[in-house]
Amino acid sequence: MKKLKLGIQISGRGSNLQALIDACADKDFPAEIVLVISNVADVEGLARAQRANIPTLTLPHKTFPNREAFEKAIDEAHRKAGVELICNAGFMRIISPYLINQWRGRMINIHPSLLPAFPGLDIHQRVLQSGTLFSGCTVHYVEEAVDGGAIIAQAVVPVLPDDSEDRLAARVLKQEHQLYPMAVRLIAQGKITYQDGKVIRNDMESMCQNGLLNPAIHS
Ligand code: GAR
Repeated sequence: MKKLKLGIQISGRGSNLQALIDACADKDFPAEIVLVISNVADVEGLARAQRANIPTLTLPHKTFPNREAFEKAIDEAHRKAGVELICNAGFMRIISPYLINQWRGRMINIHPSLLPAFPGLDIHQRVLQSGTLFSGCTVHYVEEAVDGGAIIAQAVVPVLPDDSEDRLAARVLKQEHQLYPMAVRLIAQGKITYQDGKVIRNDMESMCQNGLLNPAIHS
């Protein structure tokens, strides 16, 4: 099976990276990780990649004269590794139009809220303050608007009356670990494609049969 080549971008813990590593360990999973880039040295995510024998690259953003130089180095590394899809997994840098233009429709991100609600930072704190009854996570294409690109997949969790930020974050994270590999699989299988800023769902029938589009709430 020809596998889609993934380049993963991280800044820290890398638990979503781990979920993708675990998914790719299945010989029937239609994607493989060929490179992990971190903008922070010595993070747990780099150790996870090294344990899985995946090539890693640390590019500390502060060592570059400006954002474009940093992103040129990123772009070059992904191209050299043969990357076909960039997956941001807790990559905490704003991505500029330079890199977006190089990878439009071939770069995705996971965000711990039900976008378009709660883009940006301090998400769980803001969710708790808002009084909303549901939160969740979103996998989306990366566009110029921060956390604003076309939505590929979402999972919903309840917000419980006695929730702390940590408890809510853990409940959301558990779903992130299911959702990100599922989204990558749909893209690798061609069931989801990107066209002019929109997500095209090419196989609605089988997606419905497999429960992928059913609204489910995960506790
Ligand atoms: C995840 O919750 C991810 O959704 C979030 O950072 C965390 C990284 O955890 N990303 C963002 O907030 C991006 N806007 P991880 O390093 O354990 O995967």
